Amino acid sequence: MGSTFRCIRCNKIIEPGTNFRCRCGGLYEVRHDFDDVTRELFDERLGTTKKPYDSGVWRFKELVYPEIDAGAIVSRPEGNTNLYRCGIVCDYVGVKDLSMKHEGENPTGSFKDRGMTVAVSEARRLGASTVACASTGNTSASMAAYAAQSGLNGVVFVPEGEIAYGKLSQALAYGAKVIQVRGNFDDAMRLVEEASSEIGYYLLNSLNPWRVEGQKTIIFELLQQRSWTAPDWIIAPGGNLGNTSAFGKAIKELQELRLIDRAPRIAVIQAEGANPLYRLWSSKGDQLEPVEKPHTVASAIKIGAPVSWEKAVKAVAYTKGVVEQVSDDEIMDAKAIVDRSGVGCEPASAASVAGAKKLVERGVISSNESVVCVLTGNLLKDPETTVNYHLGKLKGITPRASNKPIVLDPGSSGMQDLKALFTSAW
Ligand code: F0G
Repeated sequence: MGSTFRCIRCNKIIEPGTNFRCRCGGLYEVRHDFDDVTRELFDERLGTTKKPYDSGVWRFKELVYPEIDAGAIVSRPEGNTNLYRCGIVCDYVGVKDLSMKHEGENPTGSFKDRGMTVAVSEARRLGASTVACASTGNTSASMAAYAAQSGLNGVVFVPEGEIAYGKLSQALAYGAKVIQVRGNFDDAMRLVEEASSEIGYYLLNSLNPWRVEGQKTIIFELLQQRSWTAPDWIIAPGGNLGNTSAFGKAIKELQELRLIDRAPRIAVIQAEGANPLYRLWSSKGDQLEPVEKPHTVASAIKIGAPVSWEKAVKAVAYTKGVVEQVSDDEIMDAKAIVDRSGVGCEPASAASVAGAKKLVERGVISSNESVVCVLTGNLLKDPETTVNYHLGKLKGITPRASNKPIVLDPGSSGMQDLKALFTSAW
């Protein structure tokens, strides 16, 4: 039997198609009948130039979409991102063994490309002509690029004035139709889901279970980079919670296939002003209460009603994980440290490092445990927030690691200022 969709609530099984929500209200996930796979198969493909296995997603094809025809795959290629270990970040967080998996090194600058290659390939297999998504920016940038590459029409729904310029410019430049919704991401999400069923767009949000299949490879690849030894913790920011869902599914499948012998624990980090999963987890409730007016400087995770919360709850529970929240100040300070290390990331990504620090301070993570923080997006995605942080112009944020530019006159007084600067401490 090939891959099927199974409802996570009532276990109903259907053929993969354009329906991502079961009648009972639960989301579908992809179920595969895995063949015997070995670590050696994936290790042999490292460094290959053979398509599609040169991609850090399709290197794991047998665990992502075994039966898709290799010739039908739309790939940039994505993945093959680095794991960085930086002294100043380890010191900042308070653990010796911390590395950062930099998903900002993907073709369009975020982890979204890993899910997009799979779901866009599926869109083509199904004969879709128009693909659509709602987005806080990165999904739209990624979808627009993959739609352009595969000759599909792309329509993106973004909250007007709320997404970072790097991301908006990508969606426009790659030629997607950009619909700016006068509302927040949650409004845009509701609108695109409705539009997909009314107009017949193929939906490419992480509600689409194929997106989740691609995003599992963040876990596969980081474990492979660690010679298949699990770290104690994997930490990632949580917004719409597709990534958290993918991480849990990946870890479970690797254990079932005996490719790893113990599960790393997942820590999901939300911004204090957009923290519905944190609230649910800390109150030990079973029903998510949306945050009505989400707010955070990290616009990528400014989400009040995450679509994949039920899958995320399962993922956290399966790995005995935790959910934490961090303030905008904590996010921006952590970002300044990650940037200062030379690696750099966008604000939402730094939530993972800020969260790691907080969990160490609270004694949840001990200083001798191993930690991998996922940096979800590139530094260049949101230059405005970075510059305003260093200028001290971010509302409500006190920069503790700012690097203010120095303004000089070009004449002799400027030269004097410059000399004074170089004779004083750096
Ligand atoms: N980090 C970045 C940089 C993101 O763009 C997102 C989500 C997340 C973290 C959170 O991941 O949604 O899987 O929990 N961005 C989506 C978008 C919502 O539209 O680009 P998640």
